[in-house]
Amino acid sequence: MPTSAKDTNLSTAAVIPAAGRGVRLGPGAPKALRTLGGIPILVHAVRAMTHARAVSLVVVVAPPDGVAEVSALLDSHGLPEAKDIKIVAGGETRQESVRLGLAALPDGIDVVLVHDAARPLVPVEMVEAVAAAVRDGAPAVVPGLPLADTVKEIDPATDAVVGTPERALLRAVQTPQGFDRATLVKAHATITSDVTDDAGMVEQLGIQVLVVPGHEEAFKVTRPLDLVLAEAVLARRRAADVF
Ligand code: C5P
Repeated sequence: MPTSAKDTNLSTAAVIPAAGRGVRLGPGAPKALRTLGGIPILVHAVRAMTHARAVSLVVVVAPPDGVAEVSALLDSHGLPEAKDIKIVAGGETRQESVRLGLAALPDGIDVVLVHDAARPLVPVEMVEAVAAAVRDGAPAVVPGLPLADTVKEIDPATDAVVGTPERALLRAVQTPQGFDRATLVKAHATITSDVTDDAGMVEQLGIQVLVVPGHEEAFKVTRPLDLVLAEAVLARRRAADVF
């Protein structure tokens, strides 16, 4: 059953898919285990979720052969004891990893945030805003930003441009994406086609997805230059004493 509007007593969990190998960053440790300011990217992402007041449980989806390693890593970084943290093994695709994370949620969780491990610097206020929008009755919520670049649609066979969507109507979406739990579980049980985010599955069910303001610091660490940018953001936060 979808949640009813304006229910402020709903319990919220965050699922963090962190089972990817991060090949676009080049050779080396899996992306989630690379460090920023001396702290693994995954630990930053878990902290961002545990710092949100709304979140009571964080489920980290680890590489299938990396559950013990992720568990030891999180133990060694002293996360808040007031929050539950579970670690489960992930799958071949992001979609499968999220599905396995959802399957590990206990009864009593009504709102689920799905957050990429690869977005370590998401501000806690944005996490709270996404959770609040779901608690206020939206079945699916994504943070999004207007685009700086014009986007072209191409024919992949020829690289010829086939269309130019109106830029003002486009948003680049980030995570955490927030969902009424039953809606997200249904989407994962029903949609089998490839999607690049969870909201895309909910859209295919014909359920409305709401966009709330994203944040430029919630960018995904994907390419080597993103690591440079992330280090700079962290240095600025540390200079300002903001974490
Ligand atoms: O590859 P991409 O950057 O889109 O991955 C987004 C998130 O999904 C990352 O946090 C990654 O660790 C996770 N993922 C996963 N299981 C996979 C593939 C990706 O949890 N099999």
